[in-house]
Amino acid sequence: MYKMCVIGNPIKQSKSPWIHQQFAKQFALEIEYSTLEINKADFKKTINEFKNQQAIGLNITVPFKEEAFLLADEVSERARIAKAVNTFLFKKNGAIFGDNTDGIGLVKDLQQNLSYTLENKNILILGAGGAVRGLLYPLLQASPKSITLSNRTLNKAIELAVEFKEQGSLQVCSLQEINKKQFDLIIEGTSAMNFFEQLTDIFDLSAVSMVYDLKYQSLATPFLDWAKKQGAQVVSNGIGMLIEQAAYAFQLWTGKYPDTRPVLRLIKENFPPLSRVTFL
Ligand code: ATR
Repeated sequence: MYKMCVIGNPIKQSKSPWIHQQFAKQFALEIEYSTLEINKADFKKTINEFKNQQAIGLNITVPFKEEAFLLADEVSERARIAKAVNTFLFKKNGAIFGDNTDGIGLVKDLQQNLSYTLENKNILILGAGGAVRGLLYPLLQASPKSITLSNRTLNKAIELAVEFKEQGSLQVCSLQEINKKQFDLIIEGTSAMNFFEQLTDIFDLSAVSMVYDLKYQSLATPFLDWAKKQGAQVVSNGIGMLIEQAAYAFQLWTGKYPDTRPVLRLIKENFPPLSRVTFL
């Protein structure tokens, strides 16, 4: 019996317990995966209490990923570079191992589920917060032609580009400059729901081959609706990334890597508003 949870705030609507139960069924494993909604001040205490309950580990989501990085005793290379952790493994020797499976989850979703090649593509990432931090190293490793960061607070994008300069070159541009450049892939990684309202109306996305929103609370997020109006041909919400990052976490805990494709198919039947949306 494996015991794990996801910790965050808010967390009650999380689909992670359901996703991990689907993975467990594939290997006839028994798991108990719960949700824990906590306040910031209780993070360390809650982790230690959970660890003492013979748990194997947990997922960490907004707003605790940076704090989780600081709490980990050991981290993977990708978590060290991201300075953010979304998965803890409680090791037998008592150490807390931290990993970040977000970026690799996104890359897997794009490449495998959406058959999207990242090599040689010009990528625009909107946002420069905790969510984006986890994506940069795996995206850089996928050999795109360029990655450009744009953010409401331009300085935060510049800081991120400086921080990641050993991993690869990141360009930066202001929100006002975006429509002067050509991109193949646009990734929306801000925490705002109506971010696009700040972008100018004259925005032609017809040459963009994929618009991807990390959000997945609905089939067509407000950003994807906007992108379609601007001419985007293919858009996707982040439900596939959620499932793929979960698969890597599941493997860390159980040593078994699940088949994510049936889970992606099943999510359409069980949670219709979450299904992937793509337009060709
Ligand atoms: P997360 O961990 O979810 O990424 P975060 O670290 O607070 O959260 O980062 C939030 C991101 O969303 C930032 O890039 C933020 O832009 P700023 O750096 O300018 O704050 C962006 N964001 C949040 N609300 C926004 C809004 N209303 N308009 C534009 N960008 C917004």
